[in-house]
Amino acid sequence: MGLYSTTYNYAQNHPEDFWSEAAEQLVWQKRWDKVLDDNNSPFTKWFSGGKINTCYNALDVHLAAGRGEQAAIIYDSPVTETKEILSYNDLYERVSAFAGVLVKYGVTYGDRVIIYMPMIPETVIAMLACTRIGAIHSVVFGGFASNELAKRIDDAKPKLIVSSSCGIEPGRVVSYKPLLNGALALAKHQPDKCIIVQRKMEQADLDHQRDIEWFDAHTGSNPVDCVEVSALDPVYILYTSGTTGVPKGVVRPTGGHLVSLKWSMKNIFDVNPGEVYWAASDVGWVVGHSYIVYAPLLHGCTSVLYEGKPVGTPDAGAFWRVISEHKVSCMFTAPTAIRAIKKEDPSGDLIKKYDMSFLRSQFLAGERCDPDTLRWTEKLLKVPVIDHWWQTETGWPIASNCLGLEQLPIKPGSPTCAVPSWNIEVLDSSCKPVKAGEIGAISIKLPLPPGALSTLWQNNQRFIESYMEDYPGYYQTGDAGIIDEDNYLHVMSRTDDIINVAGHRLSTGGIEQVLASHPDVAECAVLGVADNLKGQVPLGLLVLKDGVHKPGQEIVNDVIKLVREEIGPVASFRTAVVVDRLPKTRSGKILRGTIKLIADGEPFDVPATIDDPLILDEIANILSKIGYPG
Ligand code: COA
Ligand code: AMP
Repeated sequence: MGLYSTTYNYAQNHPEDFWSEAAEQLVWQKRWDKVLDDNNSPFTKWFSGGKINTCYNALDVHLAAGRGEQAAIIYDSPVTETKEILSYNDLYERVSAFAGVLVKYGVTYGDRVIIYMPMIPETVIAMLACTRIGAIHSVVFGGFASNELAKRIDDAKPKLIVSSSCGIEPGRVVSYKPLLNGALALAKHQPDKCIIVQRKMEQADLDHQRDIEWFDAHTGSNPVDCVEVSALDPVYILYTSGTTGVPKGVVRPTGGHLVSLKWSMKNIFDVNPGEVYWAASDVGWVVGHSYIVYAPLLHGCTSVLYEGKPVGTPDAGAFWRVISEHKVSCMFTAPTAIRAIKKEDPSGDLIKKYDMSFLRSQFLAGERCDPDTLRWTEKLLKVPVIDHWWQTETGWPIASNCLGLEQLPIKPGSPTCAVPSWNIEVLDSSCKPVKAGEIGAISIKLPLPPGALSTLWQNNQRFIESYMEDYPGYYQTGDAGIIDEDNYLHVMSRTDDIINVAGHRLSTGGIEQVLASHPDVAECAVLGVADNLKGQVPLGLLVLKDGVHKPGQEIVNDVIKLVREEIGPVASFRTAVVVDRLPKTRSGKILRGTIKLIADGEPFDVPATIDDPLILDEIANILSKIGYPG
C-alpha cells in the first residue's frame, strides 16, 4: 500500500490523531481541549478550547525562526508596471501598524471589516491586520458592482470598510470609489469609516466625514500585538453564489483553517518553507484567501501577488515570465487561464524565452479541466499538471493528487482521489451510494474535516437547508459525478443553478432576477452554455410582456447593461435572445436543462412532462440564428 492510501486510511480511522499531529505544526496560545467534538452535528467543532492567532502563525513565528529577511510577498503588477518585494519583516511591520489603525478606529474582536480591493499589497495587509486583532474580514471581489457589494454590507454589517480608489483592468481603470459610494447609498447598514488606498492611476474624491486616506489613517496609531482567538471563532466570511440572488456568507473557523492549510502545503502541493508559490487568482475568491494569502505565509513560503492577466499583460508569455523571474516552484491557476494562453500561443513559442527550471508542478482548479487543456499544459511545462477539486465552502482541496504523499497516475478529466480526511461518496436520489462508474450526487460523509465552513454567517438554518438536508449524514457538494473502478473521482456538472464562468461561480437565478426586473420582460431563463475559453457563459432567454413593441435587440441591450450594473462585469453576460415562449413542464417548471442541451448541441430526450414539445424546435431555430450550438 502506498503512502497516499496509508495516510488516507489513518485519517479515516484515527481522525483525532491525524489532525492533532497536523495541529502541532502551528503555535497555539492555548492547546485545544478536544480535537473533534461532533456532539452537535453538522456543527462540528475542531480544536475546541484551543486559542490561536492567524496573523501570529503567518508572520510573527517566521521572524522568530529567522525568516525576517525572506520575501513574504512579491507584488508583480504588469498592469501598473510595478514590482515590490515585501520581506516577512516588512509585512510584519505594515500589518502590525495597520492593525493599530483598525484599533484606533474602534474595530475590536469579532467586528467585521469589508475589504473591497484590487490585487495590491494593502489588501493582504488589511486581511492579516484583521486577523491580528480578532476582527473578521470579508473580502469582496472587485468585479462585483454596487448592488452585490451592498448585499454583502447589509449581511456582514461591517464596522469599517477598506477600499481603494481604483483597480486596473487591461485597457481601463475601474473606479472603485464610485462603486463603493453606490453600494453605501443602497445599503441599510453604514460603516463608521472607510479607509481608502489612493492609487496613482486615479485619485478618489473622499467624503471627509466618513473616508480617510490609508496613510493619513495611520497618524496617531501604534502597532499592535496579536490577540488570542478561539479556534472556533470565524477568521473570515466569504460570500459565494447560492441558487438565489442572495449570496451565502461562508464562515471559516480559525483553528481548522490554519491546520488544514498548513497540512495541505506540504502534503498536497509538495512545497517547502522558503520556496516560491504562486496562485494566479484574485484575493476576492477562496483560492486567493487560501493560496495567495494564508497557506503560503503559514508555511513560510514566498507568495506572488500578481495584478495581471494570463494574456494581454503584455502577452501570452506573462505566466512564464513570472514563473521564471521569481523562481516559482509550484503554480496554481484555473483551466480558463491556460485556454486563454493556448488560444493566443497554440504552439507555446513564448515559453522558450524563459528559464522554467524551478517549476516542479502546475495545479489547476476552479472549474472542470478538459483533457485537451491538461495534456497541452503537460506537454508545454513538462511537470505534473494536477487537476484538483474544491469549493469556497471547503476552503481547501477535497480531491487531488497529493504530490507530497505520493504521485498517483494522472487521468485527464479527473481530479484523482479524495484527499485524506475527505470521505467522498456518490449518492443516488434515495441517498444510497451508487456503483462504481455510475453518476450521482457527489457528497461528503460527515463530519467535514477541519477548515471546511462551520456555518453560513448568522444563518444556521440556511446552512442546514443548503447543504445538509437532502442527504442526511452528508454534506451536499452541489456537484454531480462518478467514482470510477480505480477510485478516481470525475466531477461532471453542477446539480443546481450555479454556473462556472472563467472559474468564477455565478448564480443563474441571480441573473434571472435582474432580467426579470426589466419592465418589458414577462419571463426569462438563464443557463450556462459551453464556451471554448471560459468553460461556460450565461445565455438569457427573454419572453416579453404582451403589448411591448420595442425592437427585441433594444431590450436585449438593456438587460445586458442591467446585469453589468447590478451584478458586475464579472458575470460576462453578453448574450440574450427574445423568444415567444419558454419550454415548460405541465406543472410550469422551465426546462432549463433541455434548453442548455440544445444550445450545446448535445443529445437530449424530450421530457415526458413537457407541455408542448414543438417549442423545442422553435428554441433550436432561434438559438441557431445567434450561433448555438457554436
Ligand atoms: N475588477 C473589475 N472588473 C473585473 C475584475 C476585477 N477584479 N476582474 C474581471 N473584471 C472584468 C473584466 O475586465 C471583464 O470586463 P469587460 O466585460 O469590460 O471586458 C469582465 O469582468 C469579465 O472578466 P473575465 O471573465 O475575467 O474575462 P476577460 O475576457 O476579461 O478575461 C481571461 C479572460 C481568460 C483572461 C480571464 O477570465 C482570466 O484570467 N481567467 C482566469 C480565471 C481565474 O483566475 N479564476 C480564479 C479562480 S481560481
Ligand atoms: P468556487 O466555490 O467558486 O470555488 O466553485 C466551486 C465549484 O467549481 C465546484 O463546486 C465545481 O462545480 C467547480 N470546480 C472547482 N474545481 C473543479 C475541478 N477541478 N473540476 C470540476 N469542477 C470544479
